[in-house]
Amino acid sequence: MDYNLFPTVFPVLHSEGITLRELTDIDLPAWFERLTDPEAAELAGDPIAESMEDVISGLEYHAIGFRFKESLRWAIVPDDIGESVGTIGFNSFNPTNNSADIGYAIGRSHWNKGIATRAVRMVINYGFEVLGLERIEAEVLTHNGASIRVLEKLGFDKYDPDTTDHKYDPVSQQYANFLLLNKKTE
Ligand SMILES: CC(C)(COP(=O)(O)OP(=O)(O)OC[C@H]1O[C@@H](n2cnc3c(N)ncnc32)[C@H](O)[C@@H]1OP(=O)(O)O)[C@@H](O)C(=O)NCCC(=O)NCCS
Repeated sequence: MDYNLFPTVFPVLHSEGITLRELTDIDLPAWFERLTDPEAAELAGDPIAESMEDVISGLEYHAIGFRFKESLRWAIVPDDIGESVGTIGFNSFNPTNNSADIGYAIGRSHWNKGIATRAVRMVINYGFEVLGLERIEAEVLTHNGASIRVLEKLGFDKYDPDTTDHKYDPVSQQYANFLLLNKKTE
């Protein structure tokens, strides 16, 4: 990635009835609820939170990621709900092939309402049009049917980068890799 394109002020995005904004303290209760949901945490590849301190550490982690241009993580706030229902963002920017990994999670009570599909589309557009990424990648547990469905709806294709190169779990073969190319730079 061209780090000159990385924002200096945290970007607020609004589209499709959703606002994506910086995570703040007010998001902690909903985030805590999701991170203490064993199934949701497992599917997202997150450790199960043991206390609010764990979630506060997550907030600090993402703030530092933004400050050092290592990651971008938004709170997902649907207009009709008015509070954050999940998080989404990029991590692992890779300047060599101008790529980033996308990750997202929605609280269980809001699943299957199309929120992730809309939010992922917004972040893809931001990644390609503003950050100038050439590739957006995702690594998903093979039993995470909902996440795979979201990626496939948005045009991601499954690919096999290197079967030994699992970024988030080096010993597991339970992940599938997905890739979306920026059509403007192909
Ligand atoms: C994955 C996740 C973000 C999807 O969020 P969402 O807002 O419910 O997603 P959407 O409603 O936009 O789309 C879900 C799609 O998956 C489908 N789906 C749901 N459960 C499914 C399953 N078990 N198998 C296959 N498809 C499934 C839905 O029907 C929907 O498809 P459709 O629009 O064609 O009907 C959410 O389930 C979640 O947060 N899970 C836990 C964390 C996680 O897995 N994060 C992703 C890590 S890679």
